Amino acid sequence: MKNRKVTLIRRPTGDPVETDFSIVDEDVAPLEAGQVLVKVDTLSIDAFIRTTFNEVSFHQGSKIGNIVPALGIGVVLESRDDAFSVGDYVFGALCSQSIACMPGAALRRLDVSVVPPNSYVGILGLTTGMTSYFGIVDVGAVKKGDTVVVSGAAGAVGSLAGQIAKLSGASRVIGIAGGPHKTAFLVDELGFDAAIDYKNENVEARLGELAPTGVDVFFDNVGGDTLDAVLMHIKDGTRVVICGAISQYQDMDNVRGPKNYLKLAERHATMAGFAVFHFAEHYERAEKQLTQWLASGQLIMREHIEQGIDRFPAALNILQNGGHHGKLLVRVAQTS
Ligand SMILES: NC(=O)c1ccc[n+]([C@@H]2O[C@H](COP(=O)([O-])OP(=O)(O)OC[C@H]3O[C@@H](n4cnc5c(N)ncnc54)[C@H](OP(=O)(O)O)[C@@H]3O)[C@@H](O)[C@H]2O)c1
Repeated sequence: MKNRKVTLIRRPTGDPVETDFSIVDEDVAPLEAGQVLVKVDTLSIDAFIRTTFNEVSFHQGSKIGNIVPALGIGVVLESRDDAFSVGDYVFGALCSQSIACMPGAALRRLDVSVVPPNSYVGILGLTTGMTSYFGIVDVGAVKKGDTVVVSGAAGAVGSLAGQIAKLSGASRVIGIAGGPHKTAFLVDELGFDAAIDYKNENVEARLGELAPTGVDVFFDNVGGDTLDAVLMHIKDGTRVVICGAISQYQDMDNVRGPKNYLKLAERHATMAGFAVFHFAEHYERAEKQLTQWLASGQLIMREHIEQGIDRFPAALNILQNGGHHGKLLVRVAQTS
């Protein structure tokens, strides 16, 4: 049996491009005790992957020649771990490949009787719905009547963060995204109250019109100019939630901090960052609530699916350039 995988052959400068990667076929080695062979079904294209292309990274820098990391779901083909049987759906750091040979201890068996398998890389996904949930509910502590602003709002985390803010009682949710097709998506499909097109509008001026009394919670996925613009509209007690800063990931040695951070002192406001795994002991609570919202149709996730492992490098570029709505995934086709 052959595995097809994507390896890093050059550190990207700026957005990742296809020539930064190689597609490699290799034989699958026989399983050792405790290992599980997984046919990779769907991979989650996440912003953290870009940060691993630096030599040193919070998410562990990749070496040249290494397989590109990715979270995903798959189906067990063969098992030498008693906890897994052939045909089980599993979630784990399966990486950018068609067949993953994993220690059973690194996999989670999924219950797909209630929700579709893709939910575990979408609404229930660690780097998607769970991240949105903890950022809005625990870090931002959104409450009834709040005005909430979300940046990167038409992407995976942002689109759910806005919807979860509404479900948590926010009276006004404003999204920031790039392009009129994205602002229309936020308002018409996802029920945001308003949206700002940062590519064609002045975010600071427009936010003044849309939230004249200020912002209670800002869920930031973008950083840079967007963060500075929203800081000009915080008020007493505003919570600024730093979920990510995708505008900065292409040059992590020169990350630009917020110019307007003194607004925090003027407004007795807070800025708090988080990584989803800081909430590991609360995953069950989040998954239960997200499953309820998913089952009742209160949370919507649009998916953009690229077909085949060979499209993985292109998908990394699409993520950075915003060529998708909602969750970006790669459906992996087995090569042989
Ligand atoms: N804290 C955590 O544990 C955690 C976990 C997962 C993800 N995150 C963070 O969540 C954020 C969103 O991740 P995601 O996976 O959901 O990706 P995503 O939002 O689906 O895709 C990224 C989006 O970022 C926008 N973008 C790219 N460059 C930009 C720039 N220079 N300025 C403004 N917007 C830009 C693009 O949308 P436009 O078309 O609108 O520009 C693109 O669609 C990232 O910052 C990521 O690091 C954090």
